[in-house]
This record gives sequence, C-alpha cells and structure tokens, in this order.
Amino acid sequence: MKRRLFTKLLALGAGSSGFAQLAAEETDGQKTDREPDELAQADSKSDNSAGGLDSPQDMPEPVTVADFVPIAKDKLPNATFEYIATGSGEEVTLRDNVEAFRRIRVVPPLMHGVSDCDLSTTVLNQPISMPILLAPVAALRMYHPQGAIATARAAAAAGTLFAVSSSAGSSAEEVASAAKGPKWFQLYVPKDKAVAKRLVQRVEKAGFQAIVVTVDLGEWKDADRRNRFSVPKEMLLKHLRDVGYTHLKDDISDDDLNAFNLRAWDLSLSWDFFKWLRSVTKLPLLIKGVLRPEDAKKAVSLGLDGIIVSNHGGRRLDGMPATIDALPEIAKTVDGRIDILMDGGIRRGTDILKALALGAKAVLIGRPYAWALAADGEAGVKRVLDLLKEELQNAMVTSGCATVADVDNSLLTAESLMRL
Ligand code: FNR
Repeated sequence: MKRRLFTKLLALGAGSSGFAQLAAEETDGQKTDREPDELAQADSKSDNSAGGLDSPQDMPEPVTVADFVPIAKDKLPNATFEYIATGSGEEVTLRDNVEAFRRIRVVPPLMHGVSDCDLSTTVLNQPISMPILLAPVAALRMYHPQGAIATARAAAAAGTLFAVSSSAGSSAEEVASAAKGPKWFQLYVPKDKAVAKRLVQRVEKAGFQAIVVTVDLGEWKDADRRNRFSVPKEMLLKHLRDVGYTHLKDDISDDDLNAFNLRAWDLSLSWDFFKWLRSVTKLPLLIKGVLRPEDAKKAVSLGLDGIIVSNHGGRRLDGMPATIDALPEIAKTVDGRIDILMDGGIRRGTDILKALALGAKAVLIGRPYAWALAADGEAGVKRVLDLLKEELQNAMVTSGCATVADVDNSLLTAESLMRL
C-alpha cells in the first residue's frame, strides 16, 4: 500500500528549503533495492560483526554494539536504517568520531589491587548508576512501535538518564509517565515563543530534571535526500501537536503541514535565547553542540549548568572535528566549573574510559541504542546499556580504577596526549 510520507520531521535540517521538495510517495515499509555501504561508513567493523552469518535468526545474542547493526538493518526499511546510520557529506566527521578513539592508547598500571569497580556517578548532581546516558534521538517510533516509551523504561531499568528529543515521537508527558527514571528534555525551540514557553513549563511540570538545548541545528545528509527519507504524516502531526501546535487539524493538506513544519522552529538562535529560557524555567540548562572552548566559556559565563560536547553524531556539517579531539581543550577551559558531557562515536567501554580520562563527567550514546531499539525494543536498549556497562567495568578494573573518579589522563600514553 502506498501512502503519503512527509518531509523529515525536523532534526531541524528540515529548515533548509531544499527539503521542502522532498515529500514524496514511497512504498510503506519496503526496503529499496539499493545496497548501501552505510556500515563501512558508519563503523568500518559493523558489516563483519555478524561473523559471516546471513540472517538475524542465525545470529548469536549481541555481545557488542556492532552486533546490533545487522539486526537493525534487517528489521528496518532501508531509508530508516540509513537515516540512523549515515552522516553528512562524505562522512568524514562521522568516521572520525569513531576512529579518533582508536588513536588514543591506554597504558594501565600493573599490580593495582583492584578487582571490582563502582560505576555510579552524578551528572548535574543527579545520581546515576553509570556514566552512560541516552542521547536525544528523533523519530524513535519509526524504529520500534514503543519508541521513546521503551527507551525510557530501559534507561530506568539500567538506572541511567534518558535525554528525550523533542522530536522523539512521544509527548513529554507520555515519556514521563512511562518510567520513573531520571530524564532530561532536549528542546528544539518553537518559533512561537508562547508555544515555547508553555512547552518548557509542561516539561518542568512533567518532572524532567533539566533542559538540553541543542544548538547545532540543521542536518544535511545525502542518504536522506537520495532516499527521500521522511516521517509519516501521522507522526509529524503528532509531533507538532505534542510540542504545542495544537490547532493543527487532521485534514490539513500534506503541503500545508510540510510548510507549517518548515516555519514552526527557531533556527536562528543566539546566546540571548538562554536569558529568555532562564526567565521561564528554574530547571538546570545544558547546551548541546559545543566544539569550541570560547563557546564553552560563554556557556559558563551565562550560568548554564552543563555542556555537551557534540557534533550531532557527524550528521550536520561534515569536516567538524571528532568530539573526543575537541573535549580536552574544552575541559581545560571549563576547569571543573560545570559538568561536561560528550557524545559521538562511543561504541566500546574503552571509548567511555578515554572520554572520562579526558574530562567528561559522562557520555551519551545515540546510534547504539537506536540500533538496539530497532533490533529488540526495550530489551534491546537495556542490553546495549548492559554491554557497554560491562565493557566499561572491565576497562576500569584492568586500569586499576575502583571508581569513576579514579579515571584520569594518567591512564593515557604521552603520545596520545600530545596528539590531542
Ligand atoms: C540524533 N541526534 C539528535 N540530537 C538532538 O539533539 N536532537 C535530536 O532529535 C537528534 N536526533 C537524532 C537522530 C538520529 C537518528 C541520530 C543518530 C542522532 C544526535 C544525538 O543526540 C547524538 O549527538 C549523536 O547520535 C551521538 O553520536 P553517536 O552516538 O550516534 O555516534
């Protein structure tokens, strides 16, 4: 059956006018014939991770993040799979996010007497079971019918924090009532300030513990343009109503809905926005998308509560540095005044160890849990969190770190530190 699909919901790349023409007829739920080389590009090891097995039924239970990739690929329409896996431009930044971790070497001390470790920590004073959070990811209901609800439950079961995208596909209230675990709300800013204010107040009332403002706006991915990736009308309509554009009617035409979506968001944020946001909420505020030390400094001077070093998982401007390369200078500039988190390219427990060693209080994962959600819903997300937790535990014990606070850059080779 054919149905009308819609321009990409936002990821706020949808703000660029070229996308307006891309709403197109597609065959619902069917994969395209084209064989993508996305895994080689997203993570060069992923294609091999199934060990030559042909179908997911033959596959053993995943034991690494990469093991989820072929399962997700099998379950999702190609356009949706590529929406998750690919990056912008020639995917230099996407690859570098992963490879930059591989260039950093760890030299663990010997005879340290550590055989167990405690991963618990805090972010913005919020206790969590481990320094691994779920990053905001859009359109989760396209990967699994339970979308953000399943994700919230898995995060709560793992004792960690879920930063829910305003484009996740479920309202703030729906996600809040799905599970009691700690949650942050990632805000894409409605252009209508009355709508934006009401949304922030609803988020506060629903019990979210902080607001993450993503400021690196505008995804631009060849794969999505080639695939004419888009979000079904029903999801786009729900999304816009969920953030507060409640006047939109079911019978709105495709073109009108698309056009409305393109003008519904504030794509021209400046630092003044945080003053406004501070005036309408008492919740702690984080800025997501920081890569320059000067911007980190500005965030501290404005009284923000946290910084997320991020290049949007290599989905925005290709050629931006790997986030792990950007982290050390930012950590030096911030000098412990506020919490720094990072995301981008985390695929292994050793990646997390390196990020902590270079100044991150915790990391966030995006694609790893999107793949796991597609593969096995709530159980998949819980499993990927457990796997990364076990890998981090192993890395910490091997490095003689009994607590997260013990992880520092003395674990890294001088050569690795010099290169950063
Ligand atoms: C994202 N990301 C993202 N970020 C954000 O602030 N709001 C959003 O709605 C989305 N949507 C989104 C969709 C998909 C499919 C992906 C993969 C990513 C970026 C995300 O929060 C995070 O910065 C990256 O995913 C981190 O990189 P890794 O872990 O995917 O390598």
